[in-house]
Amino acid sequence: MGSMDREHELLALAVSIAREAATLAQAMRAAGVDPVATKSTLTDVVTAADRAVERQVREAIRAARPGDTVLGEEFGTESEAGQGVRWILDPIDGTVNYLYDLPQYAVSLAAEVDGTVVAGVVINAATGKEWTAVLGGGAFTGGRRLSGSVQTDLRQALVGTGFGYAAERRLHQAAVLGGLIGEIRDVRRFGAAAIDLCLAAEGSLDAYYEKGLNAWDHAAGGLVASEAGLLVTGLSGAAAGPDMVVAAPPALYKGLHDRLVELGADKGP
Ligand code: IPD
Repeated sequence: MGSMDREHELLALAVSIAREAATLAQAMRAAGVDPVATKSTLTDVVTAADRAVERQVREAIRAARPGDTVLGEEFGTESEAGQGVRWILDPIDGTVNYLYDLPQYAVSLAAEVDGTVVAGVVINAATGKEWTAVLGGGAFTGGRRLSGSVQTDLRQALVGTGFGYAAERRLHQAAVLGGLIGEIRDVRRFGAAAIDLCLAAEGSLDAYYEKGLNAWDHAAGGLVASEAGLLVTGLSGAAAGPDMVVAAPPALYKGLHDRLVELGADKGP
């Protein structure tokens, strides 16, 4: 089997598992949602649905591909990135939106082979909207190939971002945004990083950046954005990761990247 066949096969499996997961998330939302625990801070909640969706996805992956490993937001890792296929899962990205019944929460599922993300799907579970990508094969939504924003002027760019859960980090992020907001069109904070990256891939956001994301927040959406032609990186030569994920079309990338460096966006708590 050619590697492209394998990547499309992994994507097809990811899509079918993520659709079932999105159905479960939406059904549990309709039945009513309460936080069941907090994680890093009092506002970093986990719901029964986050756990139920992650359990269901893990079982489906185990049934279809028993040798693979899974890194998930709620139950952690069975292995480090390494040999073979590792699935990277956020059962519900945008948990706070989910809690408040705001229609921006997503199942995000990516397949990584030997440390490289090769296939990914993000489904907004509230609306059913789906974004997919395979490495080298482009990014799509509803059969339409994505190519990012055509905006070339950072001063006219609508930029998505997000905030972490810890107060000190949020204050740092707000200070960075304070330095940027006078130099762009405006900012959007929708509350689900995976969806933000897909909106940037569509050009519904001109660009996106955020400090503090975990692999499950950006693995699938980051591939969708890069396959749409965006540059998806950290700052100053670093790969996208916990210190920074910036996703922007080439024409906006340098201006945004350099300003984020000046503002120390990847520094601080
Ligand atoms: C969060 C969302 C949010 C982002 C946070 C993430 P979660 O993920 O993606 O938009 O600003 O950094 O932690 O906790 O809802 O899975």
